[in-house]
Amino acid sequence: MSKKFVSIRDVKDHVGQEVTIGAWVANKSGKGKIAFLQLRDGTAYFQAVAFKPNFLEKFGETEGAAKFETIKKLSQETSVEVTGIVKEDERSKFGYELDITDLQVIGHSVDYPITPKEHGTDFLMDHRHLWLRSRKQMAIMQIRNAIIYATYEFFDQNGFIKFDSPILSGNAAEDSTELFETDYFGNTAYLSQSGQLYLEAGAMALGRVFDFGPVFRAEKSKTRRHLTEFWMMDAEYSFLSHEESLDLQEAYVKALIQGVLDRAPQALEILERDVELLKSYIAEPFKRISYDEAIDLLQAHEQDADTDYEHLEHGDDFGSPHETWISNHFGVPTFVTNYPAAIKAFYMKPVPGNPERVLCADLLAPEGYGEIIGGSIREDDYAALVAKMDELGMDKSEYEFYLDLRKYGSVPHGGFGIGIERMVTFVAGTKHIREAIPFPRMLHRLRP
Ligand code: 4AD
Ligand code: MG
Repeated sequence: MSKKFVSIRDVKDHVGQEVTIGAWVANKSGKGKIAFLQLRDGTAYFQAVAFKPNFLEKFGETEGAAKFETIKKLSQETSVEVTGIVKEDERSKFGYELDITDLQVIGHSVDYPITPKEHGTDFLMDHRHLWLRSRKQMAIMQIRNAIIYATYEFFDQNGFIKFDSPILSGNAAEDSTELFETDYFGNTAYLSQSGQLYLEAGAMALGRVFDFGPVFRAEKSKTRRHLTEFWMMDAEYSFLSHEESLDLQEAYVKALIQGVLDRAPQALEILERDVELLKSYIAEPFKRISYDEAIDLLQAHEQDADTDYEHLEHGDDFGSPHETWISNHFGVPTFVTNYPAAIKAFYMKPVPGNPERVLCADLLAPEGYGEIIGGSIREDDYAALVAKMDELGMDKSEYEFYLDLRKYGSVPHGGFGIGIERMVTFVAGTKHIREAIPFPRMLHRLRP
């Protein structure tokens, strides 16, 4: 008893034919003998038109008039089964239109809370489960999907194997202040902040590996770039140099932008994203500067009329105004490399001849989007890693598996992690990271 519904996305293949579509009424207009329905089915939007005389002719005076009245009275988000003839229509912004021949209501929708008028952010966030139905949110989710798809494609083409890291862990991967704890049969387990440490074991087993999954950080920050639960893709690669890692990251980010241009052009159009600008990020080489060069540059420009960041000394960490300024200065995604060891994670390998700096890079997106990737070459020397952990007062018994990787055939290796929502926000050109994930988790947001 399956019935074949045509997706709105595919109506272009059915011009001149009668099709049936399962959809929701996003909006309606019209007067007198004519009714216009804006229909959406999640794949796209388009317009369907009901003309009263056609209904009277097909169903007779009484039934035809009743059917037409039903259509005129349809309320927002009523679900319907609509049959009609597909017409090409250059005047309509969708390019196609449906000439309705019949319509059945499937599910009523009374007083839908999100109306076409403006709503405040808190109201929309409280109704996130419904807000997801709006045009802009549909577009952002399509971009997210294109980025995930392009990730799998890119890593597959480059010889990487998907290697899933655990979410429950006995130790901290990044920074122990941001850990979410949970009871684990009387012991403490932590929610993963990054799959990296496990992925390093994968790289020793399989050469090139990547993972993709949710990670958790008890970030108290209320910014437009921070979530407490977000999706990270980490990649790890054996026998990798710092330069090769940057090349790989650059190729990956370009592949993601290209993937969105290829797979979600309508979404970019809905969001009014500057597509030429996105294309320029693919065409131009990314900028690479060292942390110390970046500090010099920031210091040299701190008196400029159009800057408003705090003075930094060599050794200080960047705040988001500094990151924004650096990437805007170059106008392309910018790698800042070789940060001070003191402000980065314990596992990073020092720059040869300069133990104060580590072989790492943050990739800063232009247009003020900030850091999208963090990566590094890992300390692969057992004694050096133990010394570093002792210096930081870390409990080595929690990291035995990690130290083992340095005891049995250690090799130079490295990798990086991208926050998928940061990438989505950047490519979509939206302001706040909360719209880049279906149900955002933030400092004050756990529902819906
Ligand atoms: O720079 P991070 O902390 O790096 C790591 O976790 C490494 N273990 C990755 C690796 O080398 N395999 O995080 C990586 C990325 C950041 O660049 C940022 O895009 C994103 O994760 N990120 C966040 N995204 C949303 N909300 C947060 N609170 C985030 N914290 C980091
Ligand atoms: Mg980082």
